[in-house]
Amino acid sequence: MKNIEQIKNESIYEFSSKTTQERYAKIAEEGFWESEEILISKYFKPKSKMLDVGCGSGRAAISLHQKGYKVIGVDITPKMIDTAKAIASSKNIDIDYVVGDAINLKFSENYFDGSIFANNGWVQIPGKENRQKALSEIYRVIKPGGYFILTAHLRYYSGIYLFFWIKNWVKFYILKPLGFKIKEIDFGDLFFKRNYPDKKLNQNQFIHLTSRKEVEEQIKNAGFKLKLLKSMGEISSEDAKLMRGSLSKNFNSFKSPIFYICEK
Ligand SMILES: C[S@@+](CC[C@H](N)C(=O)[O-])C[C@H]1O[C@@H](n2cnc3c(N)ncnc32)[C@H](O)[C@@H]1O
Repeated sequence: MKNIEQIKNESIYEFSSKTTQERYAKIAEEGFWESEEILISKYFKPKSKMLDVGCGSGRAAISLHQKGYKVIGVDITPKMIDTAKAIASSKNIDIDYVVGDAINLKFSENYFDGSIFANNGWVQIPGKENRQKALSEIYRVIKPGGYFILTAHLRYYSGIYLFFWIKNWVKFYILKPLGFKIKEIDFGDLFFKRNYPDKKLNQNQFIHLTSRKEVEEQIKNAGFKLKLLKSMGEISSEDAKLMRGSLSKNFNSFKSPIFYICEK
């Protein structure tokens, strides 16, 4: 548990930093990706009550609001919620933002018509059990027949990641059984730093690189039916290009994330 708490706190610290906050204030202006817009208008009826989990500065929440959905945004990083509230108030729009953890949502059963965990926020939750809890919580708070859109980065074994996977493998299958302490919780955990020119700003970030099978199993374990699985590039080639161009050096070999459409 110590590792999980430490990773969580490091991540909140990074998300709270001035540089990251400034970046997310800009991101909030970008609104929906084309791929999200396509999926949201397909799966969510206008005026539905939506939960934006890991809402950050409100990029998706603002677009949802502008499209006529009622939105509540939840994020574990208090600074993100402060920024989201400030942006909403500067635009004179009414979105409810609350600080909260996806693994323990403070809403009653069947409260929302639908939910989204956008931009790979779910894979930034450390610990497989916690990622499972988050899916179960989202399942609990949406109505039967409601949809949930999940995005997750997939594992790729090529390029600079080949070395990463060899290291990961040695840690999990040789060092850990021998009793060595490793920081990674699950096979596929990656720690990285963003390449800000000021090195002091490059704080630890965490992401779990998923296998498709693992995400499908967790979706099923939460009780959801998987309705659709598509990469961002399959939905919008424009988005896939933009994503590749915008990611930091560490991420350049990531291909477009996967969208999982889940039905309660
Ligand atoms: C990559 S950002 C995405 C932000 C926003 N959804 C967007 O698309 O711009 C991931 C967000 O998830 C939040 N987050 C991470 N773990 C969380 C958790 N357990 N519960 C709620 N939010 C979480 C982070 O604080 C961060 O704001």
